[in-house]
Parts: sequence; C-alpha cells; structure tokens
Amino acid sequence: MRWSTVAALAAAPAAALAQTTCTPLVGDLPAPSMAPGYRSDIAFEGLKFPRGIQWDSAGHLLVVDRGAGIYWFTVDSCLQLQDQRLIINDTELNHGISMSTDGKTLFASTNDVVYSWAYDSMTGDVSDRKTLVTGMANNEEDAQITRTLLSPVSQPDWLIISIGSQTAADISTLDVTSGKAQIRAFNVSEISKESVKFTEAGFVLGFGLRNSVGLGEDNLGQLWSVENSIDGVKRNGQEIHENNPAEELNFHGSLKDMSPRGDYGYPNCFAVWEASEIPDEQGLETGDQFSMYVNSTINDTLCAELYQPPRISFQAHQAPLDIKFDGDGQAWVSFHGSWNRASPVGYRVVTVAFKDGQPVENNSSQTASIEIMANTDLSQCQNACFRPVGLAFDTAGHLWMSSDATGEIYVIRKMDGSGVAAFTSAAISGPTPGPTPTGANAQGKESAASSVTAASAWLLLAVGVIGVQVLGMLL
Ligand SMILES: *[C@@H]1O[C@H](CO)[C@@H](O)[C@H](O)[C@H]1NC(C)=O
Ligand SMILES: *[C@@H]1O[C@H](CO)[C@@H](O)[C@H](O)[C@H]1NC(C)=O
Ligand SMILES: *[C@@H]1O[C@H](CO)[C@@H](O)[C@H](O)[C@H]1NC(C)=O
Ligand SMILES: *[C@@H]1O[C@H](CO)[C@@H](O)[C@H](O)[C@H]1NC(C)=O
Ligand SMILES: *[C@@H]1O[C@H](CO)[C@@H](O)[C@H](O)[C@H]1NC(C)=O
Ligand SMILES: *[C@@H]1O[C@H](CO)[C@@H](O)[C@H](O)[C@H]1NC(C)=O
Repeated sequence: MRWSTVAALAAAPAAALAQTTCTPLVGDLPAPSMAPGYRSDIAFEGLKFPRGIQWDSAGHLLVVDRGAGIYWFTVDSCLQLQDQRLIINDTELNHGISMSTDGKTLFASTNDVVYSWAYDSMTGDVSDRKTLVTGMANNEEDAQITRTLLSPVSQPDWLIISIGSQTAADISTLDVTSGKAQIRAFNVSEISKESVKFTEAGFVLGFGLRNSVGLGEDNLGQLWSVENSIDGVKRNGQEIHENNPAEELNFHGSLKDMSPRGDYGYPNCFAVWEASEIPDEQGLETGDQFSMYVNSTINDTLCAELYQPPRISFQAHQAPLDIKFDGDGQAWVSFHGSWNRASPVGYRVVTVAFKDGQPVENNSSQTASIEIMANTDLSQCQNACFRPVGLAFDTAGHLWMSSDATGEIYVIRKMDGSGVAAFTSAAISGPTPGPTPTGANAQGKESAASSVTAASAWLLLAVGVIGVQVLGMLL
C-alpha cells in the first residue's frame, strides 16, 4: 500500500474537522466513559452485527457485517461513514478481513474458507474471487467459528489465519495436525495458484491457543495475539472460574524467523489470573500456567516446563477480540465482554504499554491494561452495552472500532480531534525484533504433545465437567 498517498487522503478529514457543523449520531446507550483527554463518537449505526474492519489504501472503511457481507464506506469531514455499499453479498462471511500490503487484494473468511478478491481501491469494486484455504469448518454447536486474518506489512508474502478449538475442551488440539486452536501463516502467492486445506499447509505460529481471535503486528514486524481462554474452569473439581483462567496476550515472534513456535498450553494448562483462588497452588503467580487436576500426569510444574506462557495476562472472561498497534508502538485491545461471570467484565477498549517491542509490565502484572473507553454501567451488560470487536487505525491515528451487539462503528480520538497516537502499520523500523518464543518452553513440543496424550482421559472428564452451556460464549 502506498501509505504516503493514503496519508494524504485520509488525513484530510482530521485537518478539516469542523466540529461546530457536525451533528453527532446519538445511540440508544448512555455515552461511553472515556479516559481523560479522549473522546469517542458514533461514526455509523444500523448494521446487523459488525465484526472485522479494515481500511483500504484510498481511505475507505470496509466492514464485515455478519449476516450480510462486506460493506464499503467513505468517511466525511465529521468522521461519519457515508455512501454505504454492499460490495460483497455473502451471509457466510463472519469476521475475518484483511488487505494485501499493496492494497490490491482483499481477503475474507467464513467458518470454512478463506477467499481473496482483486480489489479496486478507488471504486471499491471486487472481482475474480478465489478460494485460498479450505477445510476449517467447525460444526459443533459450541465451536469457535471465526478465522481471523492478518496481512503483515513487514512480510507481504504471508497471510496469517487464526482458528479456535472445536469444543470447549478440545483434546484433538493436542495434535498440531488437527489444525485447530492454532495460528498459521500461508504463502499468498502459492495459495493463490491453488487452494490448500488448512491442515495440510502453512507455517505454524503457535498451537494450544484456545481461541486467539485477535491478531496484530507491531512496528518491528513482530506478531502478537490475544486469546480467549476456557470457561467453567475447575481445580480438582472445585469451581474457580470467576477469576481464572486469565485471558492472554501471546508473543509469536517475527516471520523473518522460521524456527518452530511453541505449544501455548490449551487444553492442558491455562494462565493464572487470581492465584489465591486456585486450591493447592505452590507459589503460582499471575501469568504462570496451571492444570485443572494435579497429579503425576499433569500438574503445574509440567505446565511450566512444557508450555509457552502468556507475555501479559488479563482479567478472566473479558474476551479480547482484536489487538492493533499505534504509531508510538502501544497496543490497543478490544474486549467484547464476559458472559460466564457473575458480574460482567470487559466491554471496553484498553491500551497496553510497550517499549522496544515488548510490554513494559512484567509477566505477572495485573495492571497492564489502561482503560480508554468503557461502558458506564457494567451491570447492564450484555443487554445494553456496546461490545467492542474489530479495531483499525486510520492514517491520522484515529482508532475505529466495531460493536457487534449494537450494530455501530465508533471512532476514538483525542479531545482536540487528533489521533490517539501517530499512525502506523508501515513503519517497520527501530530496534531489531526480539527473539521468537522458542526458548526452554518451546523445546520438545512434539514430545509434549505425545506425552500429554495420556492426559486425554482426564480431559474427557473435564469436557463433561465443563459441559456445553456454551452457546452464549460464541465469540
Ligand atoms: C444479496 O443476495 C441475496 C440472495 O442472492 C439477494 O436476495 C439480496 O437482494 C442481495 N442483497 C443486496 C443488497 O444486493
Ligand atoms: C512464496 O512463494 C513464492 C512462489 O512459490 C516464492 O517465490 C516465495 O519465495 C515464497 N515466499 C516465502 C516467504 O516463502
Ligand atoms: C508433576 O509431575 C511430574 C511428572 O510426573 C512429577 O515428577 C512431579 O512430582 C509432579 N509434581 C506434583 C506437584 O505433583
Ligand atoms: C516472561 O515471558 C516471556 C515469554 O512469555 C519469557 O520469555 C520470559 O522469560 C518471561 N520472563 C520472566 C521474568 O519470567
Ligand atoms: C518487574 O519485576 C521486577 C522484579 O520483581 C521489579 O524490580 C520491576 O520493578 C518490575 N517492573 C515492572 C514494570 O513492574
Ligand atoms: C490425573 O487426574 C486425572 C483426572 O482426575 C485422571 O484422569 C488421571 O488418571 C490422573 N493421573 C494419575 C497418574 O493419577
């Protein structure tokens, strides 16, 4: 993408902001609470269930509206969306969307398939649909159905796809060839020539990831994901699910390094949020991994030896769905919000401070999230709350966000109308990317997978324990 051109086009609205002549769109909900210095405005309302959002190289916003297809919008000087047009009429598209770095190829996904289209950024017209990746369908009633897509700016040959587990505690995912609960990168030139099955191609960027709906690339070209961890977790039969396990921010290194990535633990081990609520724990901290049962087959010590822990943990059940990096290198994370917790949590957008390509806070921190936008009354969630899903920065550094439950698109900016930070996405410079997560924890991953097959039996038990009260959790 010619970002210089884009900058000229899409920075214009920011400069032209004439707030006195803008009529704000008013939603049905109380205004969000904003961190000091920030504002949010509704840019569009009336969509069915907007999920992934993506800018094109000419400053148009594309929105996957689940149950409709992909809408194309222009942006006016009030930062409201205009000229709504359904450019792809396909009710199966449900979340994933990305654009090639040159701005000429659009990608989108269903539960089963990733497609590409030739894309004209001036008109928004699509043509020449190709099937790139197949074999991802998940038809269990509690299956994870999104296949998040990311076209990394630093490595334009690749398309990254994240797929969740098939059931709540899916033991098939212990085997990396299951093609579930993992992230893979595919060579776009190759899959454009001939489609591939997800399980039969691609480079595995991590497995044992229950449902990493959010994918992001930082300014060093390093890859990160945010994982929705398991619901209904118990420890030796005792209910501990209110504040455990943590939701996770996981590190996947750079695609410049093709060494094998690790197993991130699911479905054997989960990240700690509140250690004090886990019975029989021996000095666990937030971010360490724990097992649901403790014996010689599986226990917390084995969790630490075998699996890659999160780099940052978040309060349980907030349901992170996207992560995007701003021009200052800070991460922004959308939390869709909880369904399986007595008092709701999440339903907000936060930043996580980064320095030199790593989070500033320690692995065991409970304070890494800095809240920017939130619902004022969480007791009204899920029914009367916006629910953040997709995030995308425009070239002026405004952060755009979809809310599926309310059919809205929001824009977050500073009070003076400027961006929340410098725009990024192309600026791949600065320090050399850090090491990929292939250290001690990544060793012997294949053997880890086979050694834990013996644990399958207890996991089957766990499936029974967790049950299938999961319809409401589909993300
Ligand atoms: C989308 O396709 C359906 C089925 O072919 C058709 O009924 C509908 O009118 C189309 N919608 C638009 C906006 O073109
Ligand atoms: C992708 O595939 C093309 C065509 O086979 C090849 O030329 C290119 O080197 C590959 N890129 C990577 C990053 O492997
Ligand atoms: C965990 O399992 C390993 C391997 O079976 C065993 O050596 C260790 O003693 C166990 N630790 C606990 C706390 O049960
Ligand atoms: C923090 O986590 C990262 C990756 O998850 C790991 O490489 C690093 O050793 C951890 N640091 C500490 C102090 O445990
Ligand atoms: C990280 O942990 C170390 C050692 O416990 C401590 O000295 C340091 O202040 C912590 N840093 C942050 C940002 O919390
Ligand atoms: C560990 O606990 C699980 C669940 O109770 C059980 O299925 C498994 O057999 C146990 N392993 C050992 C070695 O006791």
